[in-house]
Amino acid sequence: MLEKINQLMEGLKELHAQNAEELEALRIKYLGRKGALNDLMAEFRNVPGEQKREMGIRLNQLKNALQERFNELKQAVVSDDGNQDDLDLTRTPYPVSLGTRHPLTIVQNQILDIFGRLGFSIAEGPEVEDDLHVFTRLNFAADHPARDMQDTFFVNSDENDVTRNVILRTHTSSVQVRAMENAELPLRVVCPGRVYRNEAISARAHCFFHQIEGLYIDKDVSFADLKQVLLTFAREMFGPETKIRLRPSYFPFTEPSAEMDISCNICGGKGCSFCKHTGWVEILGCGMVDPNVLEANDIDSKVYKGYAFGLGVERITNLKYRVNDLRLFSENDLRFLDEFKAAY
Ligand code: PHE
Repeated sequence: MLEKINQLMEGLKELHAQNAEELEALRIKYLGRKGALNDLMAEFRNVPGEQKREMGIRLNQLKNALQERFNELKQAVVSDDGNQDDLDLTRTPYPVSLGTRHPLTIVQNQILDIFGRLGFSIAEGPEVEDDLHVFTRLNFAADHPARDMQDTFFVNSDENDVTRNVILRTHTSSVQVRAMENAELPLRVVCPGRVYRNEAISARAHCFFHQIEGLYIDKDVSFADLKQVLLTFAREMFGPETKIRLRPSYFPFTEPSAEMDISCNICGGKGCSFCKHTGWVEILGCGMVDPNVLEANDIDSKVYKGYAFGLGVERITNLKYRVNDLRLFSENDLRFLDEFKAAY
């Protein structure tokens, strides 16, 4: 047995493999289940007691040496496969496919850019908010239905005092409140961000979406200023032919309040299925900041006035890119996202 071991040891250097198949054949022959090493292991059982120690040591040395040689050969075969001679450094690389910006990010940036040019700065705030910033300081009565479970996601609700509730913000008006808290007047901000409402998910509604809300507070702010800013926005966003129309509406935090429609940019106002054959599509809510809101935020409503508006980024994106199912925005389907490769 010792002789066999010595023979194998000496023969080690003679082992060669040109490729993966030859290497595998060697492995089977020497290290495999029925290979030379295992044969010796089987023989080892019959070695008489007094020789066991020496033979065991020798056998172990063989095992390690075989394994080491095998690893050496494997290394050589592997680096041979990436044959240096085949390496062509001048070849053009495989096309690397670039990612795209999310359509909502693209449109949000466009909107922020337009308002940026009109002098608005950007303010951001937390998505998990307290009732104070989402409702109370915006003139929502304690029993206003928007505070209800049906609309609002609650993180923590305090049955005895609704103003202590912790919720997911239902609009980014909460950021406007935060902006007013720290305000040096005049104040001119736009507040982008994700908002949450407890809606069943469908093509037309989702439990979260994105808003951009704007707020301007100064000494002589009028409804005409608001109208002009919104008209400029609509034309920058949807083209110079775009018309706007304001319809009276109601929000707790603005008085008077309005909803703004633009002439349908898909049919140009002639009437189509998108605008339900009216020629108009609603894109935002707006109004003059209710004096109660100014006072609730320690701003003297006899000196200062303001306007506010809020729009949904998904809605604008649908109009711009004709996306007809809100769910597409959050499903991460690359076939959808790749369509925006050409946008920026
Ligand atoms: N906060 C309102 C909403 O979520 C939008 C709005 C903002 C309306 C500002 C008027 C003024 O629907």
